[in-house]
Amino acid sequence: MKRENFGSKLGAILAAAGSAVGLGNIWRFPIETGRNGGAAFILVYIACIILLGMPIMMSEFLIGRHTQSNTARAYQKLAPGTPWKWVGRLGVFTGFFILSYYAVVAGWTIEYAVLAVSNQFQGMTTKAEFEQVFTNFSSDPLWPIVWLIVFILLTHFIIVRGVARGIERWSKVLMPMLFIIIAVLVVCSVSMPGASSGVQFLLQPDFSKVNSHVVLSAMGQAFYSLSLGMGCLCTYASYFDRKTNLSKTTLQVCVIDTMIALMAGFIIFPAAAAANYGLTPQDIGPSLIFITLPNVFQQAFGSIPVLAYVFSVMFYLLLIVAALTSTISMHEVVTSYMAEEFHLKRNRSALIETCLSIFLGIFCALSFGCLSDVKLFDMTIFDIFDWTASNICLPVGGMFIAIFTGWYLDKQLFRDEVTNGGTVHAPYFKALIFVLRYITPLAILAIILGNFGLF
Ligand code: TRP
Repeated sequence: MKRENFGSKLGAILAAAGSAVGLGNIWRFPIETGRNGGAAFILVYIACIILLGMPIMMSEFLIGRHTQSNTARAYQKLAPGTPWKWVGRLGVFTGFFILSYYAVVAGWTIEYAVLAVSNQFQGMTTKAEFEQVFTNFSSDPLWPIVWLIVFILLTHFIIVRGVARGIERWSKVLMPMLFIIIAVLVVCSVSMPGASSGVQFLLQPDFSKVNSHVVLSAMGQAFYSLSLGMGCLCTYASYFDRKTNLSKTTLQVCVIDTMIALMAGFIIFPAAAAANYGLTPQDIGPSLIFITLPNVFQQAFGSIPVLAYVFSVMFYLLLIVAALTSTISMHEVVTSYMAEEFHLKRNRSALIETCLSIFLGIFCALSFGCLSDVKLFDMTIFDIFDWTASNICLPVGGMFIAIFTGWYLDKQLFRDEVTNGGTVHAPYFKALIFVLRYITPLAILAIILGNFGLF
């Protein structure tokens, strides 16, 4: 059977960027930046993108495109009879975990889109009012679960329609639109009176705040935001065609993704400063954008209510789409793994993943309400999922991917993929191998061990 391919070069880039750009950029990046001290964190984050993210993304792309199969099978093809397939399996597991709690936040975005459409934010001005809306909703035992299920079903629906028709068509139109709206919001936010302390927070690094936890969080965020370390981009690259230039695609995806994350930061912090929120450490958690953003719309366009309305509606709808292109990519990893490994029909395999993720997701959703007291190391169920998946599972997966391509993979095969059989010039080839062999895996190991005080 011939595997489906993305129909065009642009389609491949947009699908990969669609996977990368999502709640990780707009919801999680501001939280991590806020928790970890602002500008200095951002610099460490960018260093992680360049030294760890880009080489690993190249690796995932080349493994995926070369083998044209799901992530666990890819290792079996390249390294038959070895334990490398466990790297693929770890990825499938991680994807399943991330999807479960990611869909909870994605579900919240549906609620906020509904609130925006029904014009519920109009006239609200104080932080307390926005907080109330969020707390009432997130602790409700029913609605967050309903939206969680709706979101996973939406993902399911697109997944069963197939890769090219589903994923590509969505990404092509909506990603650029999201970009434009975000850009407008940055301008609005930065130009609000009183925004400057928020801008400073993002631009003036205070390196005394950088410790091992900050570095671990920056690394986790880099993996999370780029969709790396679990075979997601590897699975996508299995649908790339032979002419896709892997290094160019890597660069494009990393630049787009980082720009959108930074822009989200430049929406949230200046606006919070302008609104005199005085963000306390408790504010900087999963609720951050849900409390700050509705206020941005009200403040920025307050004198022209129609604009406030139109912008907030468009923003939440596009956020849903951005989240959807990301959940699709996680779902696809698990679906294609089960379908190809257990010889299931794609529909069947997708349905199993959908049910499992809904099941786990319900616990994550309830951890903001009736399960909020269930804690381990002072983290709720939701926090545990998020912390473990992003700060441990993804980097460990990434480390093995780097070791695999740097040490194990045949260099000729590597070079052929990177240069598309000698047709693309790749002067950085030796440097890439060096980084993948020594820098990336050792840095990841050191950062993880450092976090536990072992290094
Ligand atoms: N990168 C996406 C975001 O920023 C989330 C995501 C999609 C992801 N696929 C992934 C994260 C795979 C980790 C691994 O929202």
